[in-house]
Amino acid sequence: MKQIKNKTLLASTLIEGKGLPVFNPFDNSLLATVPMSCQAKVEQDIIEMELGQKQWQKRSAAERCKLLKKWHQLIIENEDDLAMIITLEGGKPLKEALAEVRYGASFIEWFAEEGRRAYGNTIPSPSNDKTLLTVKQPIGVAAAITPWNFPFAMITRKAAPALAAGCSFICKPSELTPLSAFAVTELAFQAGIPKNVLRMVIGQSAHEVGEAFTYHPSVRKFSFTGSTLVGRKLQMQCASTIKRTSMELGGNAPFIVFDDADIDSAVKGAIASKFRNAGQTCVCSNRFYVQDGVYDEFVTKLVAAVDQLKVGNGLDAETDIGPVITQESKQRIVELIEEAKGRGAKQVNREQCLDGQFVAPTVLVDVEHDRPLVQGEIFGPVLPIIRFSEEEKMIEMANDTIYGLAAYFYSQNMNRIWRVAHNLEYGMVGINEGIISTEVAPFGGVKQSGNGREGAKEGLEEYLETKYVCIGGLD
Ligand code: SIN
Repeated sequence: MKQIKNKTLLASTLIEGKGLPVFNPFDNSLLATVPMSCQAKVEQDIIEMELGQKQWQKRSAAERCKLLKKWHQLIIENEDDLAMIITLEGGKPLKEALAEVRYGASFIEWFAEEGRRAYGNTIPSPSNDKTLLTVKQPIGVAAAITPWNFPFAMITRKAAPALAAGCSFICKPSELTPLSAFAVTELAFQAGIPKNVLRMVIGQSAHEVGEAFTYHPSVRKFSFTGSTLVGRKLQMQCASTIKRTSMELGGNAPFIVFDDADIDSAVKGAIASKFRNAGQTCVCSNRFYVQDGVYDEFVTKLVAAVDQLKVGNGLDAETDIGPVITQESKQRIVELIEEAKGRGAKQVNREQCLDGQFVAPTVLVDVEHDRPLVQGEIFGPVLPIIRFSEEEKMIEMANDTIYGLAAYFYSQNMNRIWRVAHNLEYGMVGINEGIISTEVAPFGGVKQSGNGREGAKEGLEEYLETKYVCIGGLD
């Protein structure tokens, strides 16, 4: 980790001897060894977070805002080091890692301010001897489990509204990418946020940490970003103590190109939305539907653009696509490609056979709609294309999934834009745009893509209770 200038960022994570080894997905070299907690320690942490929360909620919203803003400022001052850590442990190209740091920081800045606007209401009373009002209060201890694909921003997107609302926040980052999590937490402490208000834990058993977070009665809110399979189980565990949950789960985003689309812009959007983080985001477009009239033009232009993409070490400035996170991931993606090819899909871009954890960008046509590549979440740089004729049938295909996170489509026809946006059963719809994530808009899905929203004013509500107060006996 000699590349990191500010050594304090990793001080709490670098230990000698036994601990969790963290590897660089580019070459599998050992980056660091991180301390792990036993189950009793995790439970002790939750109790400490409960005490911390009681003090934290007594601070004024203005004071919490000031500390969050200081945290934001320290992140920006350390953005190059933080980006480097993300690339080293996650493989993401450095330019994308820097964008992630800024994206992650934007949640802290946004919620620092939004916490000052946690307004309640006064309610017109049905009788003159009563005044009715609501106040917003922090929900209590919030616990979270965050993924490896955005090891920085998925933490700040949850921690910032929690802290702004007056909750304490305990988090288990992915075991594959814990260094970014500890680094951003270290900066929070340097900003003055107390250690019993924000905490990262890596357990000796990830499963047991999940159980502690979901079963412990002192945790009142649980937030998870990860697969639908795991989210379903965690949500059931949360039911035992009726916790509030936010679940950001899997996606299977359709990317639709209509005959009336601007094709150059659709190709640009397709590349941005498909190959972000080597295709490893929940909102990456997963399956492409292209209408007859523009099919040939779109595929030709897309292939030309895909063949320009450079696969390599995330630290190289020219790299567009880094390694995928693990060898098992690569294996799974390659199997999906082979399975589709076995059923008649054809690769139309340049074939490359790459070693290590690299998967070459792959464009497939003539893909059958019922193949696992189309029905499941690819989480890799593979772009299956399906041709369609009729809008109505295509919308049916786009909605024919258990998922409902993000969808994208390209059209220049205003009637169609409204109609299709309305008919797509998704939590987020990008129209003539391949990248839709921002701190100011609500991120989240419908159906089995989850519940709750992150970012925007909705993101703060997830960490607040509404208390109704009735003052009676008035003259
Ligand atoms: C995710 O993949 O979970 C998050 C992507 C984003 O925030 O854009």
